[in-house]
Order: sequence, then C-alpha cells, then structure tokens
Amino acid sequence: MATVLVTGANRGLGLEFVRQYAAAGWDIIACARRPEAATELAALAQASGGRIAVEALDVADHASVDAAARRLDGRAIDVLLLNAGTMGGGSRAGTGYPTSRFGAVNYEDWDTIFRVNVAGPMKVTEAFVAHVARSAQKKCVAISSIVGSIASIRSGGLYAYRGSKAALNAVMKSLAIDLARSHGIVVATVHPGFVRTDMGGPRADLDPPESVAGVIRVIDGLDASKAGRFWRYDGSELPW
Ligand SMILES: NC(=O)c1ccc[n+]([C@@H]2O[C@H](COP(=O)([O-])OP(=O)(O)OC[C@H]3O[C@@H](n4cnc5c(N)ncnc54)[C@H](OP(=O)(O)O)[C@@H]3O)[C@@H](O)[C@H]2O)c1
Repeated sequence: MATVLVTGANRGLGLEFVRQYAAAGWDIIACARRPEAATELAALAQASGGRIAVEALDVADHASVDAAARRLDGRAIDVLLLNAGTMGGGSRAGTGYPTSRFGAVNYEDWDTIFRVNVAGPMKVTEAFVAHVARSAQKKCVAISSIVGSIASIRSGGLYAYRGSKAALNAVMKSLAIDLARSHGIVVATVHPGFVRTDMGGPRADLDPPESVAGVIRVIDGLDASKAGRFWRYDGSELPW
C-alpha cells in the first residue's frame, strides 16, 4: 500500500488529507508540531487500525525535521505532501490581515511566514528525499496559493504571505528540475482553492472535503509531463 506524509496534519486541509487518504486505504504519516494538542488527529489515528501514524514535526525547527526523518529511516514515502503553512500571527481570516498592511508591516511575522512557508518545505524535502526516492510513486507536492502567482495579481496587500508563496513556487520549480534528474522524483505545486479553514475563514468558496478531493485527484494524475508546473485543485493549470 502507498504511503503519504502530510505536514500540518492536525487541522484544516492537512487533517482532511489524512481523512481522505485513510478512506482510500493509504498508510499515512501525519505530522503535527504539537501532537499532544492534536486531539482530532489522535482520534482518527486511534480508529485507523495502525494505518495513521502521528509524528512530531515542526517545519520551522530543523532539528525536529531531521529527527522525524531519522525515526522514519528506511521507510518509503510515495507522496511527500508539504501542506503546513501560515499567514502569520494576527492575520487569520476575519482580522483584516492587519500585520500585512502597507505602513503597518510586522517584520517578525514576515520572518516566521518565510521560515514556515518557504524554508520549511525546502528543509522537509531535503530531509525526506531518500524516503521518497525509495518509493514506487516518487512524488513531492507543495500546497501553494494562487496569491503567489505573480501573473495573477490583481489586488495589492498580503505582502509577506503572497511573497512567501511566490518564493515557494520558485523553490518548487527548481526542485522539480533537480530531483527529476537526481532521483526521478515528480515535483509539483498545487493551489487548493479558497477554502473554509481557520486560514480561509467562513466566507471562503469551498469546504475542505471538496478542495482536498480535487488536490488528491491532481496528485494521483501527476507524472513527469506534469512536473514543475502549478496546478489548481480542479485540475486546471495556473500561470507562475
Ligand atoms: N485555506 C485556504 O483558503 C488556502 C488557500 C490557498 C492556500 N492554502 C494553503 O494550504 C495549506 C493549509 O492551509 P489551511 O487552510 O489548512 O490552514 P490552517 O487551517 O491555518 O492550518 C495550517 C496548518 O499548518 C500548520 N503549521 C503552521 N506552522 C507550522 C509549523 N511551523 N510546523 C508544522 N506545522 C505548522 C498548523 O499547525 P498548528 O495547528 O500547530 O498551528 C496547521 O496544521 C497552507 O500551506 C496554506 O497556505 C490555503
């Protein structure tokens, strides 16, 4: 059976990825930075008959990423799902993203957002490349955002989050080239839609089940011809 590793698996889209991959019969390595607080995830794991394993992994803490990779040494990971992300403190939906307004930018937030959203996926990929390389499917997928598509920018603001997702897109494009050559790994980037999670808020367009079902269809359909490209959850392609 295939194995997926999901970062940020304790709530939002990450938790829904765990639910849907479990329902499809996959083995899941569900990563959360504070497993002791991940009660919904723990309940899913307990009911999974051992198919969902919860691992402590904070993408901003590189020692924690390396420790998780060592604990899983020798394990094949078919899909490395780089889902964990943040808009920064005080910038959840409904707050008006106050720390990202011109003239009121919070640069500590800026550092956190880039560490989690850009360096995080890079570090997790470095740490787990051998696990993915020994799998059958060999896929590495980052959950990005349409707001990181420079060609699609129509409104201002969201400086740190938008900048972080544009940087993530560039990182994933580079990784697609390098890891295809070095390990035959398919790397791609997916926008999940505007989704009703803590991040997306209640007025977003989609519920997590619809978004995640679409993203999983996109991942299932990935092959070398679709690597190094930016996909929307509905299977259409986005410009960089
Ligand atoms: N919702 C949307 O409309 C939307 C649209 C486009 C893209 N996205 C992207 O989709 C992904 C999931 O978003 P979401 O809507 O599910 O957001 P969410 O509900 O806010 O959940 C974010 C997840 O990321 C985790 N996380 C944050 N910092 C972390 C760290 N340092 N290490 C490990 N995990 C960390 C959180 O864990 P804690 O509980 O420990 O904080 C949580 O599990 C993100 O990359 C986001 O940028 C979302």
